[in-house]
Amino acid sequence: MDMEEQNIKNLPGYDAATLDIEFGKLQKQVEEEAVMLETDEGREAFRLHWLGRKQGKLKAINDVWFKNAPSDRKGTVGQRFNELKNQIEQLLETRKFLKKLTKIVEPYVVNNLSPSQRETFENSGVLADAAYKTVLDRRRKTAKVDPIDISLPGTVRAPGIQHPLLKTMQEIVSVFHHLGYSTALGPQVESDFYNFEALNFPPNHPARDTQDTLVLADQQAKPSRDRLLMRTHTSPVQIRSMIAQAPPIRIVVPGKVHRNDAADATHSPVFHQVEGLCVDTNITFSDLKGTLDHAMKALFGSAVKTRFFPSFFPFTEPSADVQISCIFCAGKGCRKCKQSGWIELLGCGMVDPAVFASVTEARRKIDAADDAYNPEKISGFAFGMGVERIAMIQHGISEIGHFYSGDMRFLEQFA
Ligand code: PHE
Repeated sequence: MDMEEQNIKNLPGYDAATLDIEFGKLQKQVEEEAVMLETDEGREAFRLHWLGRKQGKLKAINDVWFKNAPSDRKGTVGQRFNELKNQIEQLLETRKFLKKLTKIVEPYVVNNLSPSQRETFENSGVLADAAYKTVLDRRRKTAKVDPIDISLPGTVRAPGIQHPLLKTMQEIVSVFHHLGYSTALGPQVESDFYNFEALNFPPNHPARDTQDTLVLADQQAKPSRDRLLMRTHTSPVQIRSMIAQAPPIRIVVPGKVHRNDAADATHSPVFHQVEGLCVDTNITFSDLKGTLDHAMKALFGSAVKTRFFPSFFPFTEPSADVQISCIFCAGKGCRKCKQSGWIELLGCGMVDPAVFASVTEARRKIDAADDAYNPEKISGFAFGMGVERIAMIQHGISEIGHFYSGDMRFLEQFA
């Protein structure tokens, strides 16, 4: 743009139509020259060209058109003149604001706006959007290297870990997987038949008192064996598996169980068990002892000793409680083992023939000649352990509630 003296000719007339045409030409010129505003130098040149005090076009227009106007037209010319001036000033103001905004916005764009920042930004108006685009364009043009600063530490995300209970449950299951067992699962809402009756807990048998649980409402119309309840142990999956499959059978059953137990430091009304069942020809109590001795050594270390105490479960005969030598005092006697040197860990026993009889009864509804679980031909053992109890011993935890609290200070220790 040359800066020589503006050459403004007298207006051919001062009537409205002429003013429209002549000022219209100038407005169009302003619009065309607005591209100059893109750069700092262009903006200054534009300003001088139109608004320069001595040589600016507006001054020349003022000097020629306004001053020569007949006095009754001065008002109209002045008004047109001011409109033109406003147009020019506003373009400059807008650009100035845009430049300022661009400066503010640039760091955000460099660091990549988060979606919410971007939204706030875009909602702040067309100008902000324009500034954003300007910055992006400029960076695209000038960036010689990837604008992402890879030396920044980045956002650290905790990878997440297995819950300590799941971890222990998985460990137990894995010990038995190595012995050739597979995993079987069953429902938590179970029928009285699978949870009790088939396991040789007849209705009203006192052994049921030890496993009180929630029962589903409004089932009085059903026969007692069909009534639904929250399972009290994982043993019903023994029945389900045997009905579904002939021996040999080797399964472990991890899962959640429910009992009407008051919560205290070592009890929770909802807890977890891992059940085991092995049925085959010639399975003896020695197999049971050897299997569980191996499992305890695998879980707690090879120094651990096991011993089997007579016990009672309706579905095993004989039944036993398994104790391990106290891992805290190596059997010498301490507070944890109540000075006995032993810790009671799980229940087990040889599958009671009455259980096989229930299974056979159910299987004969499908195949009347079924004899797969004839106790004359096969035998088996079963065991069940509490996952919470084992995890508490493994980690020296004295409050069962920690497992369910979701307290990160507790959980993070297992990361
Ligand atoms: N189901 C028994 C309980 O929950 C444990 C157990 C399982 C005992 C298998 C013997 C055999 O107490």
